[in-house]
Amino acid sequence: MSAIIPAAGSGERFGEAKQFKLLAGRPLLFHTLKPFLKSAEIDEIIIVVPRDDVESTHRDMVSMSAGKTVKVVAGGNRRQDSVKNGVMATSKESTLVCIHDAARPFVTQNLIQQSVSACGNVDGAVVALPSCDTVKYSENDIVEKTLNRKKIWLAQTPQTFNKEKLLQALDNAEKKQLTGTDESALMEVMGFGIKLVTGDSNNFKITNQDDWDRAEAVASQLDDTQAQGKTL
Ligand code: CTP
Ligand code: MG
Repeated sequence: MSAIIPAAGSGERFGEAKQFKLLAGRPLLFHTLKPFLKSAEIDEIIIVVPRDDVESTHRDMVSMSAGKTVKVVAGGNRRQDSVKNGVMATSKESTLVCIHDAARPFVTQNLIQQSVSACGNVDGAVVALPSCDTVKYSENDIVEKTLNRKKIWLAQTPQTFNKEKLLQALDNAEKKQLTGTDESALMEVMGFGIKLVTGDSNNFKITNQDDWDRAEAVASQLDDTQAQGKTL
């Protein structure tokens, strides 16, 4: 089982690259990696960063990797290009890959484990939240239709896939010039079976500044809980 952490984005909506910005005193990427380093299901971790950050990230990982194989590779222009570079760097022995956004620092070992085990007899498993809001479909601010909320899921990561099938989906996307906002979308167009696993609202993605403020609040809450745990 290989984990791939795409962290090669430019943070356009955030206003700067966010993956190394300090959250509660540690780089965002550090928080995201922690549960992967601790997870027994994960045999190796591939971190995908901008080309200029490969060396420094590799150096930082030497002290952190706790005996687990951690590789650092350069990303590409689109998320799926970064993921492809990550998949190409995985061990020949791995048959499953668990992909998780660097920008979701509150992933837990439990979510990782659920995503991995749900992938058992399907081609992929995606952590997602059922929509609490009613969803309107529109292309120009005029509502075309209302989607049935009971059938709407908001996709998060981790997303775990059969590695061979993911490679087929990435190749197909390249040939047909498809761009997906997640890897599941590229698997779905192939007709592969993807299972949904109920996620966690704390596993939100840091996209803009408001999300960062929320992340600071969650991180300090977690710090408090851990500190209280120690004194009890
Ligand atoms: N990502 C990546 N390679 C890219 C683009 C994105 O590895 N070429 C990663 C990001 O670093 C992030 C995850 O994919 O961890 C989710 O992407 P997103 O939140 O969109 O981050 P950015 O692409 O950095 O932000 P933006 O889209 O606002 O530029
Ligand atoms: Mg992006």
